Amino acid sequence: MGKIKWLLLIICSCFVVLSGGRELKVKHKDHLPIYNHTLATILVEYASAVYMSDLTELFTWTCSRCDDLTKGFEIIELVVDIQHCLQGFVGVAKDINAIVIAFRGTQEHSIQNWIEDLFWKQLDLNYPDMPDAMVHHGFYYAYHNTTIRPAILTAVKRAEKFYGTMNIMVTGHSMGGAMAAFCGLDLAVNHRAQNVQVMTFGQPRIGNAAFASRYKKLVPNTIRVTNEHDIVPHYPPYYRHFSQKTYHHFAREVWLYSTGLGSLVYKVEKVCDGSGEDPSCSNSVTGNSISDHLAYYGVELCGETSRSCKIIMDPRIMDYGITDFRGNLVLSRDPAVPLLKLNTQLDNDRNPL
Ligand SMILES: *[C@@H]1O[C@H](CO)[C@@H](O)[C@H](O)[C@H]1NC(C)=O
Ligand SMILES: *[C@@H]1O[C@H](CO)[C@@H](O)[C@H](O)[C@H]1NC(C)=O
Repeated sequence: MGKIKWLLLIICSCFVVLSGGRELKVKHKDHLPIYNHTLATILVEYASAVYMSDLTELFTWTCSRCDDLTKGFEIIELVVDIQHCLQGFVGVAKDINAIVIAFRGTQEHSIQNWIEDLFWKQLDLNYPDMPDAMVHHGFYYAYHNTTIRPAILTAVKRAEKFYGTMNIMVTGHSMGGAMAAFCGLDLAVNHRAQNVQVMTFGQPRIGNAAFASRYKKLVPNTIRVTNEHDIVPHYPPYYRHFSQKTYHHFAREVWLYSTGLGSLVYKVEKVCDGSGEDPSCSNSVTGNSISDHLAYYGVELCGETSRSCKIIMDPRIMDYGITDFRGNLVLSRDPAVPLLKLNTQLDNDRNPL
């Protein structure tokens, strides 16, 4: 059956429900996290850096995107799930007193195909121990059922052991945002972390209304940034008149958009309501732009070249790495060994005197 037919079916059903009247909403209290623009511009750079495919540069934090506001960051662990084409890292940013965890967005298909597929994702998994909470299994498993989760959790433990308790900031773009949300939730629920903040960029919907409302209680310090007409936050679709049955975003959205005319155009960062589906935020426009998906705060959010899962690596960095039999890779560093030393070591190795 064509997508158009399917859409018509949904639209027709909407009218039936409309005439039936009552709209259900996720209950919300409006106290929640304060949006911090400065922090957003820092975290978006981490979400961008995690796309880098040169693992040596990424691990030693010398990549072209590892400069600017993230200077001085120390990676503790870099995990590459080759099998599922996923990438993430954990490190310590002393300037913001935080452990930063970042997840890469999708790399394997063309972004168009990936977005088209997104439309059809089913709510097909019960989130464990959360009555009525449904999520999409693909997003859930990307974090929970790959080499990503164990690597991330042990690195967080290692960082906390060395640095003491710090804030934990979890970030990611697109599919990486979905993984960041599951990670933040995992840390709050299973790791009993009190100090978790999640900030995602251009994240798709990942669960239903029951999930969104539980999520919000468990990880209240969450900001979900959307940009202009970015198509991805509109998918999988939400239908206001089936708000309990369909996908439902969690709060709190911050919508970036431009307003004004001619030379008077300026950017607005709108902090949205606590519902997750504020009709006056990105829901007020059509999600029809891929380019709005690929840059947030002027920072590029995609791989440098062709979208592939290829990695580039100086073989000597494997002193820090372990691979499993599927080729999945974890690079780990002892926080007690300064990064500077690591860089010099590699440089010396590269250009022996
Ligand atoms: C916003 O975040 C930055 C970076 O973490 C921090 O220095 C600043 O104090 C924060 N501002 C507020 C108002 O919390
Ligand atoms: C979890 O991952 C394993 C190994 O990749 C796979 O065999 C298993 O089917 C996955 N579980 C689910 C429920 O998909």
